[in-house]
Formats: sequence, structure tokens, C-alpha cells
Amino acid sequence: MNKNALEDEPTKKRKEHEEEEEDDDENDFEKKRRYQIAMQRWAILKQALLGGKSSETCKSSVSVRRFSSFGLLQTEYLFSNNKEETWYQYTCADFPNFKMTIKHLPGKINANSLNGFNNTGNVCVWPSEEVMAYYCIKNLDEFRNKNIIELGGGMTCLAGVAVSILSEAQSVVLTDGNEESIDNLTDILNDKSNAELLRKTKVSSRMLRWGEGELDKDLRGHFDIIICADCLFFDEGREDLVQLVYDLLKPNGKCWMFAPKRGATFDEFKQAAEEKFHTLEEERFEKKIYDLHCKLKESGTDQYDPNIHFPIHLQLTKKDVS
Ligand SMILES: C[S@@+](CC[C@H](N)C(=O)[O-])C[C@H]1O[C@@H](n2cnc3c(N)ncnc32)[C@H](O)[C@@H]1O
Repeated sequence: MNKNALEDEPTKKRKEHEEEEEDDDENDFEKKRRYQIAMQRWAILKQALLGGKSSETCKSSVSVRRFSSFGLLQTEYLFSNNKEETWYQYTCADFPNFKMTIKHLPGKINANSLNGFNNTGNVCVWPSEEVMAYYCIKNLDEFRNKNIIELGGGMTCLAGVAVSILSEAQSVVLTDGNEESIDNLTDILNDKSNAELLRKTKVSSRMLRWGEGELDKDLRGHFDIIICADCLFFDEGREDLVQLVYDLLKPNGKCWMFAPKRGATFDEFKQAAEEKFHTLEEERFEKKIYDLHCKLKESGTDQYDPNIHFPIHLQLTKKDVS
């Protein structure tokens, strides 16, 4: 029975009034939020036209980046070229013999990048990618003799490159939808010191946009493991990404996603994926990372906001496998 049916008329009216007020509050809140986002976009545009750095202007709930790394990997500056692109050597204290040479784009935005394809992967390496790289390095056995693809890997595909260097994967494909990211990845793969380390695994980079055109035949149903970091907050890309993961995976393949909650976006993606996939969501997927997260939270620093910085692990496996 509807419990409202038991309430007297004045109580009902008062509740209706309170609910209307709550709706108004919610509308006001939503209006303010949209206004703030619009103002931030204007600030980004202004800064872009003045040649500013995008990472300094990412202030919306989608893109704030005050906290930049869990410190799981270490970077040593190598050199910058005349395009302000910077090469770093990445190492990991927990894996003494591991190194990879990675180029970062300048992270500047201009009118081109504002008008062009999504540029968030060229701003920085996001904490989810760092965490995914560390998690992959800790679970190298999973990749032996397997075909791997990284989706939305941004300008470095850090995790995919680490897997290519360290694991005994059969093949690794590094992808993103942004052309500049792919050009940068090509430079990373062609770097002499990386090329030496990459001899054992077949590695390639290519542009792959979710939901655009027919999927290349060589990709369909080809992959044992898909890896993907911080790509779940795009409302427009949600259904396309779910479908793409489904189309790329072998029947018994699995997809490892790492992404912060970013408001409701993680849960919305998970919900969309549940039609086709079994989903497994884990916060404590790796003790070291969870402990770091707890320490940062306890420290009370306002630099660290788990909603946008702490990646949750979401594993997808296909439902309709007999
Ligand atoms: C927040 S960045 C994450 C990049 C990288 N994984 C990291 O964590 O540093 C999101 C990435 O998704 C890519 N992306 C967004 N929409 C896409 C689409 N429709 N197709 C392919 N890639 C897309 C962007 O180009 C960007 O590199």
C-alpha cells in the first residue's frame, strides 16, 4: 500500500510544499553548477587564446587536477624539444629493472584543441593511468601469450607501454581517439631505447574512436584483455564504449577499467555495461594503492578529492558465454 494514502490532507499538503521547495533547491543547485562550469569554460577559452596551460584551468568536477600522482612510478626529466614536448624516464621503485622512456605533450591548449577532438588525454597522465600501470606491472602473469588493447590511453598509454615492455604478451595495441595522442605514441614506440626493450612483443598504436564507423576486422573479437583508464565520464561516449568493449573481447576475455567516481558517471557507466557484462567493482584491488588513498584521505589535504582522484577497479566479463 502507498503509505501516503494514510496521511491526512494538511500533512499531505505540507509535504507536497516541502518537496516543491526541495525541487527548487535542487534546480537552484543545478543552475549554479552549470553557471560555474560555463564560467570555467570561458576562463579556459580566455587562457587558451592567451596561450595558457590547460592543466591549470581544469576546475570542473570532470577535470580538476590539483592532485597529480600517487607516486607509484618515478619520473626523471631527460630533455625537452623545441615544440615544448618533454621526454622522461619512468621507473618503479618496486620493480628495480624496469624503465621506459615516455614523451609528454606540453599540455597547452589552443583554439585548435578546443574545437577538435577531446583533448583531456594530452593534458597530463591522469592518476588512473598511473594506478593502472602499477596494477598491470604487479599482475604481469595475466598477460602471458595474450592479445591486449588499451582504449583511451591518451598521449602516453603508460600502462600499455609498460605491459609491452615487461610482459610476455603476444600483442599489444595502444589506442586513443585523439590524433595528437597517437602521433605522440608513435614517437614513444619509435624511441631507440624503448624499441630495444620492445623486441619480444608485437606492439602498435592506432587511432580508435568509440562508436565511429565499422570496427576493423582484425580487431573484432581478438582481445583477451582490454585496459582502460579514466574514460568513464563521457556521457556521449558511454553506450559506444560499452559496445566497443563487447565487440573487441573474445568470449572469455576481460576488460579492466580504472576510473574515479567523478560524480554519478562511474555508476552510470557500470549500469550501462550491466546489460552485456558481469561487472565486478573493487576499491581494494591493490593494498599499496588503497593504503595510500586512506593516508591521503586522513591527512585532510584539500588537494586530494577521492571523487576525482581515487580510481576504482571495474572488471567486465561477457554475460552470454556458455
Ligand atoms: C581523461 S583522458 C584519460 C587518458 C589516459 N587514459 C589517462 O588516464 O591519462 C580520456 C581519454 O579518452 C579519450 N576519448 C574520449 N572520447 C573518446 C572517443 N569517443 N573515442 C576514443 N577515445 C576517446 C580522450 O582522447 C582521452 O585521451
